[in-house]
Amino acid sequence: MTVPKFALSENSESALGKTRADVVVLGTLQGDGAPVLAAGAGAVDAAFDGKLADALATLGASGKAEEVVKVPTFGKLPAGVVLAVGLGKADEDGAVTAEQVRRAAGAAARALAGTDRAFSTLSEVDLQAAVEGTALGAYSFVEYKSEPGDAAVAKVDFASPSTGTAKDHKATLKAATAIAESVIIARDLINTPPNDLFPASFADRASKLAEANGLDIEVLDEKALKRKGFGGILGVGTGSSRPPRLLRVAYKPSKAAKKVALVGKGITFDSGGISIKPAAGMDQMTSDMSGAAGVLASVVLAAKLKYPLEVVAHIPLAENLPSGTAYRPGDVLSMYGGKTVEVLNTDAEGRLVLADAIVRAGEENPDYLIETSTLTGAQVVALGTRTAGVMGSEEFRDRIAELGRATGEHAWAMPLPEELRADLDSRLADLANVTGHRWGGMLAAGIFLREFVADGLPWAHIDIAGPSYNTGGPWGYTAKGGTGVPVRTIAAVLADIADKG
Ligand code: BES
Ligand code: MN
Ligand code: ZN
Repeated sequence: MTVPKFALSENSESALGKTRADVVVLGTLQGDGAPVLAAGAGAVDAAFDGKLADALATLGASGKAEEVVKVPTFGKLPAGVVLAVGLGKADEDGAVTAEQVRRAAGAAARALAGTDRAFSTLSEVDLQAAVEGTALGAYSFVEYKSEPGDAAVAKVDFASPSTGTAKDHKATLKAATAIAESVIIARDLINTPPNDLFPASFADRASKLAEANGLDIEVLDEKALKRKGFGGILGVGTGSSRPPRLLRVAYKPSKAAKKVALVGKGITFDSGGISIKPAAGMDQMTSDMSGAAGVLASVVLAAKLKYPLEVVAHIPLAENLPSGTAYRPGDVLSMYGGKTVEVLNTDAEGRLVLADAIVRAGEENPDYLIETSTLTGAQVVALGTRTAGVMGSEEFRDRIAELGRATGEHAWAMPLPEELRADLDSRLADLANVTGHRWGGMLAAGIFLREFVADGLPWAHIDIAGPSYNTGGPWGYTAKGGTGVPVRTIAAVLADIADKG
């Protein structure tokens, strides 16, 4: 999927009378009863003789978040329809957050399916958020449908905000479009079913993306993994006829202030292996490579936005299946870097492939390490389906959680309680892969990963088991299926590191 064709137009005051759009989008705020028109709606209201808010109230509109109400223009404007979308409540100063605009733009974009051309005034509230929300809300994954249904809106003109220069606006449109395109790269990978997306085919798709974006890529196949001793990735991969891979995808600008390593879990399907999962909901484990998709999309974005940072994504890929060749509970794996791990549950496979990749990432002495994975069901129990758990070095962890929240990708800092470490002691190996009890499952997984992080390296683990995959209906700018979380968080962290170090 691609984003609609976007362009900047003059502000709505001067552009509205001559736009060739079919639909004009404007924002409404929730007032005491009747909706209040948001910034950018003034010119449309003037064409309605100042009666637009009344007309919307008559139609039952309130301005609540994501409400969509359509009004015909009866020739008052070149566009035939006004689409009013709710932003929800403004704060005491009348301001709305970027996330309110992003969600409203997403809801509007979903309602615009089947429209050829739209003119959005939400950009006069917040250009970046309007563009991101529109691009992501317009997304749907129809690759496998014989009848794709209404196509996404083909072209959107964004009214230029009254503040800032034309040059700023152009740069904002470009950056917001690139961010949305990267989120969509991740969503497409996640939504591709596991019969078509397996370690080797993921590697092929990564190679194409790397080539298109000027990135270096190295693909280790099963022979290379054996030669180099990647026991975690190999162990998890042995149950499948489709062997594992380890990718290294790198963006290296000529001047890089810092080096950031990314690691993403790439289990292309997680059946649980011999410790097999129950049938109900197992299909959702097509999304168990969301971390891999997210870090691949992030390194592509780093290249598109030319961050002054070296960004290297390490992506371990395997399929976790039970078979006569599968690894078993009781096996001891010899991990990359030499540690041994006793496997007590083959369904705790993510931490095994990640451990190998984390050790490899650490060998290159990065300044920061960000790892992300659909690691534990316990994350969903603790934080729900929309909030990621962030663990790791305290300062870096808190920085990521805060930046994540600012992007609208909810994230919350979680501890690594020291007493859980002893519960990972093994009878015979250096470490067991599970604790043997249910308590703090998300945190225990973080403690396991910490054992493989190079000493002194600031690192964070983002558990996205819930937020990476939307099993409910569409909302805001989030479609069903792959969400692309945490690409926008990683983008924000990279931008922050580029800025502050
Ligand atoms: N991929 C799963 C975690 C998961 C669960 C992701 C639900 C998304 C939604 C992971 O490999 C897993 O199976 N974890 C186990 C760990 C347990 C065996 C310690 C879990 O959470 O049950
Ligand atoms: Mn599992
Ligand atoms: Zn898994």
